[in-house]
Amino acid sequence: MVDNIWTEFARSYDVICSQLNCYQRMVAKVLRDTEGRRYVIDAGCGTGLVSQPLVERGHTVVGFDNNLAMLGLAMVRQAGMPEEARRWWKVLEGDVRSFPPGVPGEADAVVLNNVLFYVREPELVLRQCFEHLKPGGVVIATGPRQRPDLHKVMVRSIEEWKAEGRWDEALRAAAAYHVDVTRRLVTDPTEMVTFFEPDVLVDTLRRLGFSRVLAADSEDYYGENFYVCVAR
Ligand SMILES: C[S@@+](CC[C@H](N)C(=O)[O-])C[C@H]1O[C@@H](n2cnc3c(N)ncnc32)[C@H](O)[C@@H]1O
Repeated sequence: MVDNIWTEFARSYDVICSQLNCYQRMVAKVLRDTEGRRYVIDAGCGTGLVSQPLVERGHTVVGFDNNLAMLGLAMVRQAGMPEEARRWWKVLEGDVRSFPPGVPGEADAVVLNNVLFYVREPELVLRQCFEHLKPGGVVIATGPRQRPDLHKVMVRSIEEWKAEGRWDEALRAAAAYHVDVTRRLVTDPTEMVTFFEPDVLVDTLRRLGFSRVLAADSEDYYGENFYVCVAR
């Protein structure tokens, strides 16, 4: 278990990401590309914001993360689900560079939503995905194409919140804290270490044995992020 900047993010992550339209649009794409894929591994699951809608749709989900504070919130979220749903959602401590032993293989999908940018050895992670997927199973990876333009993302988001009548005192306070931590994340070269253009990530996945590209674009987060879905 590590104590890092995600311990600070845990304080505002859910409030902001559940409101952030660009985050929700990305989750919608994850839901689109996991449809009909029964068993999903949510690697670097954070607070479980992606796992939860998957579980609610009836997927079996195994999520894991190496930050105690983020994972603690995922466990609270999991504990709050109806008993039946809790049975098909497992939350574990673990590192994406070497999936923990409690994560069964033969998955139908592995999701890495905004995780790879934090890992210095992305190929180790992608190899783990390959090994844990059944043939035809998909890896879905999202993240920044380059050091993200936080100002642009926040200005656009606040414009949307204002237009939707959501820019209230509570959101303002949470956003101020979150932006402060995010500013440190995006400006410290030791915190954000890996970026991908979608075509480079697709080439890397092909080299590792993945075959079919289902989606590869750079639309997310107002053009700041890539979204890639490739089948084994
Ligand atoms: C931006 S958050 C994304 C969380 C979640 N995937 C989501 O979409 O809400 C990045 C997460 O990656 C986790 N993470 C970073 N490096 C990791 C590693 N080596 N092993 C496991 N989790 C890691 C962090 O702890 C954090 O929870």
